[in-house]
Amino acid sequence: MSLEAITTLPWVEKYRPKTLTEIINQEEVITSLINILKTKTVPHMLFTGPPGTGKTATAHAFARDLYGPNYIEDGWFVEINASDERGIQTIRDKVKMFARQIPMGGEIGFKILLLDESDQLTDDAQHAFRRVMEQYSSTCRFVLAANYSNRIIEPIQSRCAVFRFRPLMKNDIIRRIKWIAEQEKLEVDDAALEAIYEFSEGDMRKAINTLQAAASISSKIDEKSVYYILGYISRGEIRKIIELAIGGNFLQARDELRKLIYVQGLSGSDIVSAIYRELFYLDLSEEDKLELLDLLGEIDYRISEGGTEEVQLMAFLARLAVKSKKKK
Ligand SMILES: Nc1ncnc2c1ncn2[C@@H]1O[C@H](COP(=O)(O)OP(=O)(O)OP(=O)(O)O)[C@@H](O)[C@H]1O
Ligand SMILES: [Mg+2]
Repeated sequence: MSLEAITTLPWVEKYRPKTLTEIINQEEVITSLINILKTKTVPHMLFTGPPGTGKTATAHAFARDLYGPNYIEDGWFVEINASDERGIQTIRDKVKMFARQIPMGGEIGFKILLLDESDQLTDDAQHAFRRVMEQYSSTCRFVLAANYSNRIIEPIQSRCAVFRFRPLMKNDIIRRIKWIAEQEKLEVDDAALEAIYEFSEGDMRKAINTLQAAASISSKIDEKSVYYILGYISRGEIRKIIELAIGGNFLQARDELRKLIYVQGLSGSDIVSAIYRELFYLDLSEEDKLELLDLLGEIDYRISEGGTEEVQLMAFLARLAVKSKKKK
């Protein structure tokens, strides 16, 4: 690989775990896989779980631990993405090509084929694939990865050892992001880490991509730069506007709002979403919140129909002020 290619490699690839012990947070899965490695008796396997939790990475790490670092080049492992391949016939042809021969000189008598996104296959295609699995199981083990195990037909599930991946925990994501930041010589403050985690929803891919995007702007990353990258508004900014409005300082609230629209270039609907997120934390009755939510929806609609953003949003802030006065 050229130096250039290395430096421009997406970080999710660059920091993809190389061996099973590097996989974070999937202890049960990893313990069983390490046991399987010891015996070298490999079953067909189904990896299920939410996006970005390490299913594809684990399949690669497993193969690498089993066959060594040239597991792909030497022809032991291949990955087929079910969502790229049009029909089961193409998949069958690929499997046939791949599983036909076992590389010479290896101590292991089978190859591994990873069928990624296998829940993208129709039921019919899955039934056909099940037959392919049976046909080639003497020379090939199949690893199927899927987000939803209930979209995989029972006859496939029953032929596979099923491994369930969990969403990554907050600490795990933050620790990994911190570690990558260190490798990349970035400064990331705690609020930024928090924001990256919030957005990731337990998906490590999202978290790493967000960090890389924020790093493309500056090597000092704070909450604001993360929100900027995500097209979000920082909670601090939106709260300030809301508080000004509640306190009756409309001119100031309008100035701050204008900054967001005309200086930061945020769209009206970005701002509506930010208010929406903040609304739940306001000190108002449930009833008032519901009414404001309703109004917010209407404002979103009016903006999308061409209503002036500033006018629409100020109308919302005015209503907010009335609600909070009534409370006092
Ligand atoms: N458990 C984990 N430990 C360490 N890194 C992880 C883990 N999960 C994900 N990652 C990081 O995120 C990237 C994406 O993970 P991966 O492709 O394995 O997710 P996936 O579960 O296959 O998701 P999808 O369902 O979208 O295919 C990996 O290359 C790796 O950098
Ligand atoms: Mg995957």
